[in-house]
Amino acid sequence: MKIKNRHYRTIWPDPADRRIINIIDQRLLPHRFVIEELRTLADFATAIRDMHVRGAGLIGATAGFAMYGAALAAPTGDPGAYFSDCAQLLRATRPTAKNLAWAVERQLAAIGLEKDRDSRIKKSFQVACEIADEDALFCRRIGEHGVKLIAEISKRKNGQPVNILTHCNAGWLAFVDYGSATAPIYAAHAAGINIHVYVDETRPWLQGARLTAWELREEGVPHTLIADNTGGHLMQHAMVDMVIVGTDRTTRTGDVANKIGTYLKALAAHDNNIPFYVALPSSTFDWEIEDGIGQIPIEERSGDEVNYVSGLTADNRLETVLVPPAGTRSQNFGFDVTPARLVTALITERGVVAANREEIFRMFPEMKKDCS
Ligand code: MRU
Repeated sequence: MKIKNRHYRTIWPDPADRRIINIIDQRLLPHRFVIEELRTLADFATAIRDMHVRGAGLIGATAGFAMYGAALAAPTGDPGAYFSDCAQLLRATRPTAKNLAWAVERQLAAIGLEKDRDSRIKKSFQVACEIADEDALFCRRIGEHGVKLIAEISKRKNGQPVNILTHCNAGWLAFVDYGSATAPIYAAHAAGINIHVYVDETRPWLQGARLTAWELREEGVPHTLIADNTGGHLMQHAMVDMVIVGTDRTTRTGDVANKIGTYLKALAAHDNNIPFYVALPSSTFDWEIEDGIGQIPIEERSGDEVNYVSGLTADNRLETVLVPPAGTRSQNFGFDVTPARLVTALITERGVVAANREEIFRMFPEMKKDCS
């Protein structure tokens, strides 16, 4: 994505010293654009846990580079226990996003085949770059498939704006480039299709208000920010043509974990006969589980994220303020699960697929062998 005419990915090795990995600190967006350097495993773990980086794809790519950081600092001798401890530390940082565990496993498998320290460093760097490149490529392909769904609606509406509602940020900032839910949106905009996006603000962390609104503005996509509870009303009044969201983990049966509040949008879309699409690269599938509500671990974060809000003051300072009475107890579930029956289809890098086991395996037949 371009920021002030310069193309950025959300994570990249420093060209001057590839032991340093650069990220954009998303806690400060949209008011400050700050690049942060990550070097040690602790840096990477903190960046993921405290959401300097976030979003399933980017968490996965960051975990890939974190294992490279671990390889750089590995002790001499047999490193088996060391790498498995590093993997364990990373897996615990954000439990819901499948891409994190997927990237760590991919690195462990690759590192395990190497015989010495130098080759482990070289290999883990190569794999980290592959994970990042693949993430960007898959998101671009999601855009190529998803744009057809938007084009169909546009045709039916004779070129009147297609109104798309999205929740949270499954955008460029949640991946290495393009985004998942936003890839079809950016492709439609680039193709000259008349679109307009309703952006859920997405309490409590406000990924929609802070990140999606910023991305869409940078890309020149017409959009309107709405309070989280507005979507149902808009749908009842035919102001939404389709919903596109991302996902942090999707079962092999098509149940979708995504940012808290997604389920309520899916219910409202179902009640109003509005298509509800979920965009994901295949790295987000959890091929081992069938029952999203029973089996997907839901991250619970600090209640402070509910109680406090941050923003820009009139004199351009970033400030955090308390909203409820001091000492109010709050609970902060990061995600909820939308059952497959409420999902119109999944948009993947291989195409658009119905959210059920048979169709998902028809599209990804090579994964069937691992599942009973
Ligand atoms: O807590 P976050 O910001 O990491 O969660 C991200 C989301 O839940 C997004 O909705 C997104 O759809 C999934 S990440 C592609």
